[in-house]
Amino acid sequence: MTEFRLTQISDTHLARRLPTVIDNFDRVRNYIDARRPDLVVNSGDVGFDGPTHRDDLEFAKGLHDALAAPCRYLPGNHDIGDNPTEVGPAPSQPATEAHRQAFLAIFGEDRWRFDAAGWCFIGLNSLIMNTGLGSETEQFDWLASQLQSTHGKPVALFLHKPLYLNAPDDPELVATSIRYVPMPARIHLVEMLRAVDLRLVASGHVHQRRDFTYAHIRHIWAPSTGFIVPDRIQQVIGAKEVGLVEYRFQPDSFEVRHVRAPGQIDIDLDSLKLGP
Ligand SMILES: [Fe+2]
Ligand SMILES: [Fe+2]
Repeated sequence: MTEFRLTQISDTHLARRLPTVIDNFDRVRNYIDARRPDLVVNSGDVGFDGPTHRDDLEFAKGLHDALAAPCRYLPGNHDIGDNPTEVGPAPSQPATEAHRQAFLAIFGEDRWRFDAAGWCFIGLNSLIMNTGLGSETEQFDWLASQLQSTHGKPVALFLHKPLYLNAPDDPELVATSIRYVPMPARIHLVEMLRAVDLRLVASGHVHQRRDFTYAHIRHIWAPSTGFIVPDRIQQVIGAKEVGLVEYRFQPDSFEVRHVRAPGQIDIDLDSLKLGP
């Protein structure tokens, strides 16, 4: 295969009780049906609130099963809970092994690697980083073995949280540290990745579209398919809009298209009727 077409969707936040969010997902599903990529990656926050509503995850999986392409998943903080940071308070809903196991039972592996079109694709669970869970160590050991077998191929990394704002050593402000892969796990990860030809880091979580390059690595922040977060809660960094991202990988190169499915609407989090 000399070309591999991958569609990244993120922060779908699906739940039976959120019809407008489901409407946006239906428009994305129709778009994917027309485009027929080789793979869809959902980079996390698949369900609206998995740790308290397991049904959100099961409902979301059912909708993804109707996509006209195979799908791989990565967990978000709203799927398995959040990770502790070096400077901020402990998260109100911490990532746990029990939540992770629920994710695995519904969606399959929370980390993966495959090769296509001369590239090596790696997906990581960014929410267990800094937790001290056994699965955090297992994942880093697994990653080390994967990085030893890229055989010089370019690497594309997918994970829920962006690695950083602009650079690996960005100061971690208390208010925003939870937005990125937390310290000190971030530095460990960045150091490990220096051993390979990393070209792309694709993330979600922020609900803002962004595209920047640092030290020859392109960072793509996928927007949410479902809703945007209002300015009263979150600063503007990239573009606050819903949508998805399309990639075309060819040996030694790739293209990125930032798109919005026809009919997708910029729903504001404040407009959702959030019941129990
Ligand atoms: Fe999200
Ligand atoms: Fe998130």
